Amino acid sequence: MDFNYPIGIFDSGIGGLTVANAILKQLPNEHIVYFGDTAHLPYGDKSADAIKSYAKKIGNFLVDKHAKIIVIACNTASSVAYDLLTKSTPEHVQIINVIDPVVHYIIQKKYKKVGVIGTQGTIKSNIYQQKIHLQDSSIKVHQLATPLLAPMIESGFVHGQISDLVIEEYLQHANLQDIDTLILGCTHYPLIKKEIEHYYNKHNKNVEVLATNEIVGKYVKQFMIENGLLNVADTAAKHSFYVSDYSDTFAKTTNLFFGKKIELKAIKL
Ligand code: DGL
Repeated sequence: MDFNYPIGIFDSGIGGLTVANAILKQLPNEHIVYFGDTAHLPYGDKSADAIKSYAKKIGNFLVDKHAKIIVIACNTASSVAYDLLTKSTPEHVQIINVIDPVVHYIIQKKYKKVGVIGTQGTIKSNIYQQKIHLQDSSIKVHQLATPLLAPMIESGFVHGQISDLVIEEYLQHANLQDIDTLILGCTHYPLIKKEIEHYYNKHNKNVEVLATNEIVGKYVKQFMIENGLLNVADTAAKHSFYVSDYSDTFAKTTNLFFGKKIELKAIKL
């Protein structure tokens, strides 16, 4: 394998760009090949079987593009398709999900009362609670599905009255009252982290809101160092972004997610 090969990253759509951005912040020398499965968005309300079949095709696509590792930059797909992808991709291409790095962080930081928000699929899978309790069963995990948030963010409602109302409605839910930290268990949510923090400040609640994309970015860097996978070539980083369905509005929103202008190519799998 050539270390000059790209890091493969995918999500149901553009939410995973928050993770791609965080990875590049840590590893500016790396090339990235990104796939957003916009034709099947949202994953949050799809069956586990459907997501597994999409993930397998995307995994093959990224392997064909010579990905040296694949990051599943989607909590919903990480919850249901990680094991399958680990088995179905060639052994030399290691798979990283976005849940293990956050669980690792929670244990390290010794949080005791953890809230999790995510899509229906992620919360229904109970994956955060299972993985946290495998390591420390004394940690209380309080979960809430927040299905309006991803479509709201995709539609560009991130700073304003509408998003504040939706955020408030969810965060005041009984499930999330006794927590000391909140996991943003969907890769779209880092885009409303400030608004969530604002809600807690306004209500004088001491809750640490985790920048889950940044935690994953740092984890990927560490993983690449430990496995000797870093790109040591002195060439400018080149990135490619693919989506399974293209629209102009969508292309515009990608800039918000990635923090700078990018060019999307449409491809049917
Ligand atoms: N970004 C996906 C995640 O992290 C959720 C969006 C969707 O429902 O497709 O779960």
